[in-house]
Amino acid sequence: MNRPVRKAVFPAAGLGTRFLPATKSQPKEMLPLVDKPIIQYGVEEALESGIENIIIVTGRGKTAIEDHFDVSFELENLLESRGKTCELELVRRVSELIHVSYIRQKEALGLGHAVLVTKELVADEPFAVVLADDVILGSRPCLRQLLDVYQHTGRSVMAVMEVPKDETSRYGVIAAEPVDYNRASDRLFRVLDMVEKPLAGKAPSNLAIIGRYILTPEIFVALAETAPGSMGEIQLTDGIRHLREQQPVYAYRFEGTRYDAGDRLGFLKATVELALRREDLGADFRSYLKSLEL
Ligand code: UTP
Repeated sequence: MNRPVRKAVFPAAGLGTRFLPATKSQPKEMLPLVDKPIIQYGVEEALESGIENIIIVTGRGKTAIEDHFDVSFELENLLESRGKTCELELVRRVSELIHVSYIRQKEALGLGHAVLVTKELVADEPFAVVLADDVILGSRPCLRQLLDVYQHTGRSVMAVMEVPKDETSRYGVIAAEPVDYNRASDRLFRVLDMVEKPLAGKAPSNLAIIGRYILTPEIFVALAETAPGSMGEIQLTDGIRHLREQQPVYAYRFEGTRYDAGDRLGFLKATVELALRREDLGADFRSYLKSLEL
């Protein structure tokens, strides 16, 4: 039996420049997709996957995230006194279900650095990393799929998805060999190399890394030994590449659809998809969209 994965790290200390001016005074992670902040989708995915301990890496101007997952006595009292029980349940549910810790990344020195600052909180155990910008819809939570792979291999595993050849330059792309898993050999891969943002034609495959990882604790040593890149940032991909020199690293082509809510177009697409799936809004929203003369 491999050690259980009990903790999920949510790096949320980035500057969110692509959403300025909306992110001037509020964190990108709190922008709502329909009526729920982006980060809550990721937290709910962790919960549905069986992980209750959430570690959020925050930075300057991110207190709204802490307030969101905290108990809000004034709001709860007000809702209770007005008999708004559904709303009360909505507000209470998440803060009741998770155990959340916060750690600050004093400077946005890269995703790898954001993971590195959680070293003491994670301690010597395997853990998940969730980039909440990547909102993933599907019948099984993406993180759950990775946890199953981790139980099988006992090694680090990243979620990957197929992307069109002319889009590889937006992602980290893996070179990999297929591995048999669940009587198939088209989902699990042993990673041979990782290339950051390769130009079309230079990419080793069309399998792009997205924001879900299970990492073994040896990643902390690997990250500490990883030199910052050209922008002075420590990249998680570089850390994982270094980890791979010491132990196998896997990639799993997950089942589901991923929306990049950290990008404006991706954010709009996620909003539309999520609204269409809602029982209370879907039908009306669908007929509204159909009425648009596009
Ligand atoms: P992004 O590359 O999306 O950067 O980070 P960003 O700063 O959030 O947004 P833009 O590009 O300026 O619009 C991917 C994830 O890594 C976290 C971000 O919060 C996001 O969840 N991150 C990035 C950190 O926590 N710290 C960093 O130093 C960098």
